[in-house]
Amino acid sequence: MQDQWIRKRAIVNLLSGGQFVSGEGLANELGISRAAISKHIAGLEDYGVDIFSVKGKGYKLATPLSLIDDKLLLDQSKGRCFYFDEIPSTNGFLLDHVDELNCGDFCVAEYQSAGRGRRGRTWVSPYGGHLYFSLFWRFPQGMAQAMGLSLVVACSLAEVLKQFDVENVGVKWPNDIYLDNRKLAGVLVEMSGQADSECNLVIGIGINLAMSAAQAEQIDQPWSDLSGLPNLPNKTALTLALQSQLITDLQEFENEGLSAFMHRWQQADIFVNQQVKLLMGDKVVEGVCKGIDEQGSLLLESEGKVQAYVGGEISLRKA
Ligand code: BTN
Repeated sequence: MQDQWIRKRAIVNLLSGGQFVSGEGLANELGISRAAISKHIAGLEDYGVDIFSVKGKGYKLATPLSLIDDKLLLDQSKGRCFYFDEIPSTNGFLLDHVDELNCGDFCVAEYQSAGRGRRGRTWVSPYGGHLYFSLFWRFPQGMAQAMGLSLVVACSLAEVLKQFDVENVGVKWPNDIYLDNRKLAGVLVEMSGQADSECNLVIGIGINLAMSAAQAEQIDQPWSDLSGLPNLPNKTALTLALQSQLITDLQEFENEGLSAFMHRWQQADIFVNQQVKLLMGDKVVEGVCKGIDEQGSLLLESEGKVQAYVGGEISLRKA
C-alpha cells in the first residue's frame, strides 16, 4: 500500500468514532507534524471525504465512514481478492485481467476515479463512503447462458442486505436494489468474449452506505443509503458475504437457470401488479407489471395482452 494511504487510512480510522479529534492528537498518534496532518486532511477532501474543521476542536467526519480491513478480507475471502484504496474502476480492473482470472475472484476499492454506471453514466465513488465491488465469472457456453444474470445478481444482493438486517429492500427490473422506494444499489454487468463461445463477465456492484450532502447533489435520481440503520454494516463482513452469496447463486444459476430464482424475484419485486411505464429511447409503453418470464424479460400487460420486454436500454418507471 502506498505510504500516503497508510497515513490517510489511519486518520480516517481515528476519526471514525464520530467525535472531534484535535490536529495535535492526530499528529501524535501518527508521529507526523500537524502541517502534514492538515495536508492529508486536504488530500482526503480531494477524494470526496467531507471533514469538518473547527478551530480549537479539531477535525470530525461530516458523514460516518468505515473502511475495509484489507488484511482480514484477503485472509478470509474465497478465491483471489484485489483490494485498492484508489482505482479508476473495479469493473475496469477485472476486465483488463480476464485471461488471468477464475470464477469468484473479485476486486474492491475505497475510491473510484472513473466509477461506471449503466448507460454510460458516472457512478459517484467518494473515498470510503460506499461499497465498490466487482466479481469475475466465466460462462463456458457463451453469452446466451448469461441471459437473466443481472436478475440473479439483484436477488443475491437483496439476500445479503437482509442478512445485515436491512428491511424493506426490493428489486426493480432488471437489477436495481431499492430501499424504501429509492435506489440503494446498482449493478453493472460487463462482458467480453464471443457470442457463441466462452464468455467472461464482470459483475459490478455499488451499494450506498452513507451519502454526504455534497455527493447527494451529484445524483440525479431518488437515492437511499444505509445511514438510517442503528449501525452501519461492517464493510469487510458485507464484502465477504456478498462474494460468498454471489458464488452460491451463480453456481445455482449455471446449473438450473433462472427458474431457480423466480420465487426470490417475485418476493422482492417492487413493481409487480403496479401501473408502470417502460422508456425505450423516444418510445414509452404503459401497462401493469406482471413480473418476469424465465428468460428474465419484463412482462407488461397492456390492452388485455401480456408482452415480454428485454434489453439494456429499457428503463422501468412507476406510471
Ligand atoms: C448503475 O448504474 O446502477 C450501476 C452502477 C454500478 C456501480 C459499480 S461500483 C463497482 C463497479 N465498478 C464500476 O465502475 N461500476 C460498478
